[in-house]
Amino acid sequence: MPDFKTSPGTRDILAPHSARWRAFQNIFATNVEAAGYSYIIPPMFEDLDVFLRLGEATEVVTKEMYDFHDKGGRHIALRPEQTASVCRAFVEHRPTTPWKVWYSGPNFRYEKPQQGRYRQFDQVGIEALGVDDAFLDAEVIALASSFYAALGLKQVELSINTLGDSGDRENYSQLLALYFSKHEEKLTAESRATLARNPLRVLDSKREPDQEVIAGAPRIRESISNSASEHFAAVLRALDALNIRYKINDRLVRGLDYYRRTTFEFVSTSLEAAHTAIGGGGRYDGLVEALGGPATAGIGFALGLDRTLLACDAEGVFVAPSTDVDVFVVDTVNGEHAHELCHQLRAKGIKADRAYDLRSIKAQMKSADRSGARFALIIGSDEVSNSTVMLREMVLGKQHLVPRNEIFSELSHLLKK
Ligand code: HAM
Repeated sequence: MPDFKTSPGTRDILAPHSARWRAFQNIFATNVEAAGYSYIIPPMFEDLDVFLRLGEATEVVTKEMYDFHDKGGRHIALRPEQTASVCRAFVEHRPTTPWKVWYSGPNFRYEKPQQGRYRQFDQVGIEALGVDDAFLDAEVIALASSFYAALGLKQVELSINTLGDSGDRENYSQLLALYFSKHEEKLTAESRATLARNPLRVLDSKREPDQEVIAGAPRIRESISNSASEHFAAVLRALDALNIRYKINDRLVRGLDYYRRTTFEFVSTSLEAAHTAIGGGGRYDGLVEALGGPATAGIGFALGLDRTLLACDAEGVFVAPSTDVDVFVVDTVNGEHAHELCHQLRAKGIKADRAYDLRSIKAQMKSADRSGARFALIIGSDEVSNSTVMLREMVLGKQHLVPRNEIFSELSHLLKK
């Protein structure tokens, strides 16, 4: 017999965790819709070329892409993130700016699976296109930070940096290449390989032997334009005005190549080192242009749903909401009464379930117990003859007869208590 299991790096999300996921998405939607962001549902796959704009030197593109040729010969990739898709959608539909959207859904990266790192992982995020204003940078960061607070998370640190304008980034990259090449022999083999691809990413290395060389590397601050540093200063002032605490980390380069100016990352201090980044984002002012659109500013963030929930577990907050029904209907006559009554209860917005296959009253009461329902409605032949129902309060074990036509008002009253 075949022994089918989920593919490595993927999981089934079952109740009660699945209810927690939905609650997570709902809270996020409420928060960002209150700030003028509307919902966008981009496709889960695009032409590979869309994602090549993430940077051909990034690991997301070179090593982690799920790409294939479809039956029509198109080179397709499953989305590794959604910013590129949102920008592609902007170019395709040309909405009026500012265009503020939010999204939620799975992404795919061929990474080494471990706790907090999956091959299919969910993100929620926002993107705002067409605005250069530093107040928007601060608004975007503030929305992420208030969302974490809404979940009850306290141990979240915000790191922020600027990568300057596109020319600044290139110059800095060359400066780093020169510096790291001079000290190449002190770098680990992994960092030497990274250096050949993308000198900026060497700064990301957490490997101990690299730290001394990294500590002496030139700083981005020394090579950015006046306008980029003024923008950064304005972002910090706008964050201060909202009392949002941050740490400036001039080694923060992030894993995707489209970033310009403001970049930021949220780290949970309650998680293990390997997967502490629970969200991140920044400006990507050249991305729309790279996808064939007009020069358009853009900024956004994405939060890893899976990792943020791990942080919630570590802090003991945002527990799974109850998925229990309100009422369990026990029918010992023929099942038809439960069939009709459940239908009527559900139509009135009362969560109701029942047992099937005309099982014994004992077995049905066991199921009622397991369902977590506060009340059982028990219907036997006496109740049918008298047009009544026995209403049992499950925890107290108290029960009383209720006329059939008064069930809804009685239950609505009791459920409010
Ligand atoms: P990112 O940093 O690649 O940015 O991903 C954002 C978040 O998604 C990470 O902080 C992490 O929580 C989660 N994440 C990433 N990879 C995995 C994985 N393999 N398993 C579990 N969680 C993961 C972006 O994706 C950008 N699109 C963010 C952005 C939006 N920048 C501007 N706008």
